[in-house]
Amino acid sequence: MGLWIHFVKQWFAGESRLDAIKRVKQLNKSGIVGLINFLGEHHEEKHYIENSVRQYLLVLNEIKREKLDCEVSVKLSQLGLKSDEKYCFKNIEHIVKHAKKFGIFVWIDMENSELTQKTVDTYKKLRKHYSNVGICIQAYLKRSRKDIEDLISKKAIIRLVKGAYVEDSSIAFKSKERIRKSFLEIMHVLFKGSDKFAIATHDDRLVDEAIILENKYKKDVEFQMLMGVRHDLKIKLAKKNYRIVEYVPYGKHWMSYFMRRVRERPTILFLILRSAISK
Ligand code: FDA
Repeated sequence: MGLWIHFVKQWFAGESRLDAIKRVKQLNKSGIVGLINFLGEHHEEKHYIENSVRQYLLVLNEIKREKLDCEVSVKLSQLGLKSDEKYCFKNIEHIVKHAKKFGIFVWIDMENSELTQKTVDTYKKLRKHYSNVGICIQAYLKRSRKDIEDLISKKAIIRLVKGAYVEDSSIAFKSKERIRKSFLEIMHVLFKGSDKFAIATHDDRLVDEAIILENKYKKDVEFQMLMGVRHDLKIKLAKKNYRIVEYVPYGKHWMSYFMRRVRERPTILFLILRSAISK
């Protein structure tokens, strides 16, 4: 683990909740908002699911106590979505309700395509009763354009990303350029039809286009980026008074998250191998 952790550490705050809180305190000092995620996914055992709910409630208490500018981001599969949708709904509702008391926003991450429909359904049900909840939509999925139009009509608050999972070409765009085109198209739909949303990318071309659209439409948009990626860009945009939000993961279940980041940046694997050989 020693060697891996050296590389993982750039992308996550640490294994404890207080590591995440510490990171958000630093970010807030630079005018950047935090977005805490407790790492973990595909839990089916009650023990892990209950622990995830408890962690989020404690994080929310801590955000409130420390008066942090911070949101949270949750994966529904860590709350039991795969095995029991009703139970999962009860769990996410508990978190969203608690967050609402403190005026904190909760984002729902989007996972692999097996869970897309269930995640969208759960979100729609929640959004009927809560205003402090948003959902992530992946530009690489062919279905997303339709989902976005439907979700906008239901006053959804959307975070647009490219998409981080390995999906089949029958349901997902595969080439970088095609994914970027889809992102651009959906981003235009958001600026035209939605009042509040998040653009989550580190891609200069997409950020530049979002800024042009923001100047034109003057919407309540926030730019979200991952911890450890493009800090220069975060600072540059924060100084220009854009709302910049950094995704801050913490916890012991970091391997899947790490592997998704490696897929986006395969040169990391080369660096890991080189370090291992030179030891
Ligand atoms: P792209 O991958 O093309 O990267 C653009 C540039 O950013 C690169 O050229 C490089 O400079 C830099 N960069 C990108 N990734 C890097 C890395 N790992 N290390 C170092 N530099 C890197 N996905 C998903 O499927 N479900 C979700 O719920 C979420 N949630 C989410 C929240 C937030 C706040 C963000 C920013 C992203 C997500 N994602 C996600 C991940 C998203 O789908 C996507 O995989 C990553 O954002 C990388 O895509 P980019 O748009 O940045 O483009």
